[in-house]
Amino acid sequence: MKGIILAGGSATRLYPLSKAISKQIMPVYDKPMIYYPLSTLMLAGIREVLVISTPRDLPMFEELLGDGSRIGMKLSYKVQLVPNGLAQAFVLGREFLNGEPGCLILGDNMFYGQHFGHMLRDAVESVQKGGACIFGYEVADPRAYGVVEFEEEHNPDLHGGKETVLKVKSLEEKPAEPKSNYAVPGLYFYDATVCEKAANLKPSARGEYEITDLNKIYLNEGTLKVKLFSRGFAWLDTGNCDSLLEAGNFIATIQNRQGFYVSCIEEIAWRNGWISTEQLAALGKEMKTAYGRYLERIAAKGF
Ligand code: G1P
Repeated sequence: MKGIILAGGSATRLYPLSKAISKQIMPVYDKPMIYYPLSTLMLAGIREVLVISTPRDLPMFEELLGDGSRIGMKLSYKVQLVPNGLAQAFVLGREFLNGEPGCLILGDNMFYGQHFGHMLRDAVESVQKGGACIFGYEVADPRAYGVVEFEEEHNPDLHGGKETVLKVKSLEEKPAEPKSNYAVPGLYFYDATVCEKAANLKPSARGEYEITDLNKIYLNEGTLKVKLFSRGFAWLDTGNCDSLLEAGNFIATIQNRQGFYVSCIEEIAWRNGWISTEQLAALGKEMKTAYGRYLERIAAKGF
């Protein structure tokens, strides 16, 4: 299974912050935003990742993450010349996926919660057998998102995501009058037919190749699974200055309280067995920050 991070766009809702730099490189508390989606792919067990961004911003991601070998991964990079929709990730990523299943995550999507790794690995397993797997997350106002409507109402307390596969009634992109409160987060797992399906999409009324249209193809085929995140789970938005600050405060609160870092890519690589304890300690030593001390501390502890 391979992964794609789409970190393009102009993030005009963050102007002037994002006028000269990519939103996905901005800090969310103590690390660049792209660490969060990258860590999600890593928790899914995905080691080979393609980062797609604009001609202006791609070099910065390359400088930040390199070829990935320092964290036992293989990272590559591809320019998206025109920001014409999320589904284009599978047109640009066709060569990279090379006929294999793929996971797409948006560079500004942050997830945090218990058993997330299990949910991700279930999704990988599911699409390896065929079809697509996406998620639903209850939000107060879903109008800015893809919205999924189910055949039946559900009690959010009952869903941990694991075995919860619900019958989908409709999927809509940014509806003015949403039919449910379930937003579709920017995390999508697809089988090996995804590139072919993406190549046949037509642009929407706003001129974009919509990820929701790609998901609808799977829905019409009867091979779309939607798993729900439970209410205790955090899917955070970083779309505007307030939500960016709130996301940073959230991460700081969790980290400072527990002492465990959230989305620490070096730690996850180590826990996945992709780098040795010595490598982890060496990575920590390079950084004269609390982040570096954390890496050294867990390496010394050994678990
Ligand atoms: C995109 C997708 C939307 C999804 C959202 C998640 O919207 O088009 O379906 O719910 O990401 O972050 P955008 O962020 O491009 O407005």
